[in-house]
Amino acid sequence: MNTQVKNLIDDLNSGKKLSKENYEYILSNYDKEDFEYIKNLAQSIAIEKFGKDIYFRGIVEFSNICKNDCLYCGIRRSNSNVERYRLTKEQILECCEEGYEFGYRTFVLQSGEDGYFSDEVILDVVKSIREKFPDCAITLSIGERTRKCYEDLFNAGANRFLLRHEAANKALYEKIHPSFQSYEERFRCLKDLKEIGYQVGAGMMVGVPYQTNSDLAEDLYFLQEFNPHMVGIGPFIPHKDTPFRDEKAGSVELSLICLSIVRIMLPNVLLPSTTALGSIEAKGRQEGVLHGCNVVMPNLSPMSVRKKYLLYDNKAGIENDAKTSIEILRKQMEDIGYNVVVTRGDYKK
Ligand code: 5AD
Repeated sequence: MNTQVKNLIDDLNSGKKLSKENYEYILSNYDKEDFEYIKNLAQSIAIEKFGKDIYFRGIVEFSNICKNDCLYCGIRRSNSNVERYRLTKEQILECCEEGYEFGYRTFVLQSGEDGYFSDEVILDVVKSIREKFPDCAITLSIGERTRKCYEDLFNAGANRFLLRHEAANKALYEKIHPSFQSYEERFRCLKDLKEIGYQVGAGMMVGVPYQTNSDLAEDLYFLQEFNPHMVGIGPFIPHKDTPFRDEKAGSVELSLICLSIVRIMLPNVLLPSTTALGSIEAKGRQEGVLHGCNVVMPNLSPMSVRKKYLLYDNKAGIENDAKTSIEILRKQMEDIGYNVVVTRGDYKK
């Protein structure tokens, strides 16, 4: 055991803030025993906060049309091999109805940045869901918008917003995005969302090309300072039709240790065991939970579009319908002694 790593983790656990250098030291120097120590600590904090309850959110991938061109992403606009689709408001509502019957009380509307869903159009979708499902949380994952749009959506009943920061280090951000996508604008959005009153999710991939432990340490430091309500972290997985097709996938171990560090840093955070983690390793989702995660996000999209919303290769769960997905998940969680619970699962201070 590297006692310096343990001391830093204990500091973090006692509520102290760490520096970027501290985070980098942990990432670069932990050994097997430290890894176990960090895992066990994160797991016990999650159990203290949430018991063995796992919240589940249904993701409705309502459009794979995107004006952005993130180098890592399978639905980037330059990928002409994607069969593009968008769901109608009625189809989106049907997905939510089906999900409601299976016990979902949070709907995550996720899409590419599709110009068809103008501020007015998306506002109308949110209003309809809010009207029909007054007891459910609405989470949006629709990318960068103006502050005014975020405000209108919030006032119409959207509760949460997921917008991964992707990279806190500007140079890295600019290496993995085209020049027309702005680092400053990304962080402006996150700041606005928080000020407006959303429960906000940030996060990053682990092992994206060019990323170093120093970059990852900056991400952890950013999360510490920004103090989001939710954090999404998963390994980078290459997609065959992107410039990063020949790059290697991110490490599961490094992803898990980042998740555990975030749990220790932000004890109340809502932390999903991501699809990417479950896609790269059969037991990835369960491992995530054992490392401090308390949320899972199965797919609620219609079967007909599942194979078209691929951000990376070998995405898990695209063959299973909504009912099967939740059954599999329930079983996976029960196998490790956890229960999937029917609740909105809001952030609690
Ligand atoms: N591998 C893993 N995660 C990815 N994402 C996008 N492309 C990939 C990939 N190739 C993540 C991004 C985005 C989220 C919706 O999915 O971090 O914010």
